[in-house]
Amino acid sequence: MAYSAPISPSLSFFKNPQLTRFSFPFSPLYSRPRIQNPSLLTKNKTWSSSVVVAATAAEKQKKRYPGESKGFVEEMRFVAMRLHTKEQAPKEGEKETKAPEERPVAKWEPTVEGYLRFLVDSKLVYDTLEGIIHQSTFPTYAEFKNTGLERAEKLETDLKWFKEQGYEIPEPTDTGKKYSQYLKDLSEKDPPSFICHFYNIYFAHSAGGRMIGRKVAERILDNRELEFYKWDGDLSGLLQNVREKLNKVAGEWTREEKNHCLEETEKSFKYSGEILRLILS
Ligand code: HEM
Repeated sequence: MAYSAPISPSLSFFKNPQLTRFSFPFSPLYSRPRIQNPSLLTKNKTWSSSVVVAATAAEKQKKRYPGESKGFVEEMRFVAMRLHTKEQAPKEGEKETKAPEERPVAKWEPTVEGYLRFLVDSKLVYDTLEGIIHQSTFPTYAEFKNTGLERAEKLETDLKWFKEQGYEIPEPTDTGKKYSQYLKDLSEKDPPSFICHFYNIYFAHSAGGRMIGRKVAERILDNRELEFYKWDGDLSGLLQNVREKLNKVAGEWTREEKNHCLEETEKSFKYSGEILRLILS
C-alpha cells in the first residue's frame, strides 16, 4: 500500500508500560526456525534436540495478539476496552479513574449549555470524518462511504431543534477544532492512525455514547431521544458491515502498520474524552 509519507517505525506499545501489559508479540519473533535438511533431525541427536528446544521456544513466541484470531477489529476493541475505567465499562475497563468524564455517568451533573458544546464539537468531528471519507478516492477510505453510521446530518437536525427551543447554538470550541485539524492531518499522512480514530469514534458512540445520551436526556431533556442516537436500519447490522470492511482494509497492512494503528487508540481516547468533558462544563 503506498502512503504519501512513511508510517513512523516507533512502536511505543513496547515502551509504554500501560500498553506493554498486553504483551503484544513483535512480528519478527513469529518466524519459525527453518530446517534446511530434515534428515539431520534423525542422523544427529544433538542437532535434533536443539531443534526441538528452538521449536518449543518458537511455539511459545507464536502467541497471537489479543483478539487477532477474530480479526483486526477485535484487536482494536481489546485495546479500547482496557482504556476504559471500571466505572465506564465494569466488565473490561482497567484504567484508573482520573478525569471527570471517567466517573460514573449516573453521577454526572450535565447542563444544557455544556451538552450543546459537546454536540457542536461532535458535529465538527463527524463533519470532518465524513467529509474526508466522502471526497476520497483512496480505496482505504472510499470503502467507508455511506455505511449508515454517519452522524453529521443527524446532529444538524438536533441542533436545529435546540435552536427552535430558544437555545443559542455555540461556536465549536478549541477542543473540537484541534481534533478536527488533527484528523485532517492524519488522513493525509497516516491512514492506519486515521482508521483507528474512525473505528473508535463510530463504535464508541454506538456503545457508551448511547448510554450517555439516555442518561443525559433523563436529567436535562425530559427524556427526549435525539436524532444523534437513532440510526436508519438495524444498528447491529450496520456495525457488522463496517467491522467486515475494517477487517478487509487492515488485512492489507503489515504487522507494524497494525501495531501503529492500535497505538493510536490512546490519542483517540484523549481527544474524545476532552469533547465528552464538555457535557460537564
Ligand atoms: C463516559 C465515557 C464512556 C463510557 C461510559 C463508555 C462505556 C462503554 C461501554 C459500556 C461499552 C460496551 C462494552 C461491551 O461491549 O460490553 C463500550 C464500548 C466501547 N467503547 Fe466506550 N465508553 C466511554 C468512552 C469511550 C471513549 C472516549 C472511547 C474512544 C474514543 C470509547 C470506545 C469504545 C469502543 C471502541 C467500544 C467497543 C464497541 C464495540 O464493541 O462495538 N469509549 N464503552
